[in-house]
Amino acid sequence: MSALFEPFTLKDVTLRNRIAIPPMCQYMAVDGMVNDWHLVHLASMARGGAGLVVVEATAVSPEGRITPGCAGIWSDAHAQAFVPAVKAIKAAGSVPGIQIAHAGRKASANRPWEGDDHIPEGNPAGWQTIAPSAIAYGANLPKVPREMTLEDIARVRQDFVDAARRAREAGFEWIELHFAHGYLGQSFFSEHSNQRTDAYGGSFENRSRFLLETLAAVREVWPEHLPLTARFGVIEYDGRDEQTLTESIELARRFKDGGLDLLSVSVGFTIPDTNIPWGPAFMGPVAERVRREAELPVTSAWGFGTPQLAQAAVQNGQLDLVSVGRAHLADPHWTYFAAKELGVDNASWTLPAPYAHWLERYR
Ligand SMILES: Cc1cc2nc3c(=O)[nH]c(=O)nc-3n(C[C@H](O)[C@H](O)[C@H](O)COP(=O)(O)O)c2cc1C
Repeated sequence: MSALFEPFTLKDVTLRNRIAIPPMCQYMAVDGMVNDWHLVHLASMARGGAGLVVVEATAVSPEGRITPGCAGIWSDAHAQAFVPAVKAIKAAGSVPGIQIAHAGRKASANRPWEGDDHIPEGNPAGWQTIAPSAIAYGANLPKVPREMTLEDIARVRQDFVDAARRAREAGFEWIELHFAHGYLGQSFFSEHSNQRTDAYGGSFENRSRFLLETLAAVREVWPEHLPLTARFGVIEYDGRDEQTLTESIELARRFKDGGLDLLSVSVGFTIPDTNIPWGPAFMGPVAERVRREAELPVTSAWGFGTPQLAQAAVQNGQLDLVSVGRAHLADPHWTYFAAKELGVDNASWTLPAPYAHWLERYR
């Protein structure tokens, strides 16, 4: 039996295999509302056989969107717009998950294919960004954010809570807090972006506070029997990696104590011009260390999209769950063909009868 195609159980949720579709922004929403495109995209991801489908970074407030095309969940109507996709994911045998997010100082940007840069000041399509400190990301994102007041911090924490409650009402069974990629949560943790002198900046404890408080508040409303997860950039590749990683692992332990069930291990992306060692499965050893030292189940992404690499990551104990993104965009049936290539027979990924009959038995 292939390790990649063993079921995976977390709390009361069992995935049919160890393959997850990571969140991938589509930039196709209108005023945050998802639509037929999201249904087509998410249903096809699920139909291909992955155990888990995590919906793209979904903003907890309008100002938390990366671009004007980003999905949102700041009202009940926004949440209900996800219901057809949630049902489709389940009908295809996958578990529906959602990443809830606030983009912080990286918000108010153009879509990737329209420049991937900040919408210029004065353009009505853009908006005021907020962040722990009034420090711009730089490079293509030069807008200086407004430093958040304590009231802002409390409001955004509550926005995450409301988003989680709505996500559950829409039928999601897995939630991921977006604390990665230089967005709001990550930018509280990093000294590059957080130079506050109050209880939310400075020491490790203070820089962790927003993330831990948000987790604790979401834990209150998200059902105990369903997975509560986060994506977090544990390393920046900025030359201070051992220090950052050590702190990140300590934070991962505290996440676990606070009720987190799994960590999606990623890169910080807090500043431009880092030396990320891009390459196939390069996050594997980092994720393995977090998994071992924090004693927390993990997933990771970035270049695990060949059956052999994905299988090895599970087999050698680096990952509990492998996130395969772009390879699924290229071929939504990536999971099915991975099973074929690995010689998996009668595994838990088994296709629904109308497909299995023709593809597996009637050949
Ligand atoms: C189109 C696209 C959109 C993405 N949007 C998100 C997102 O919403 N949230 C997130 O955490 N990562 C996002 N990512 C990163 C992916 O989750 C994943 O980490 C990345 O694609 C690397 O994995 P891969 O090599 O398997 O594609 C996005 C990536 C792509 C290609």
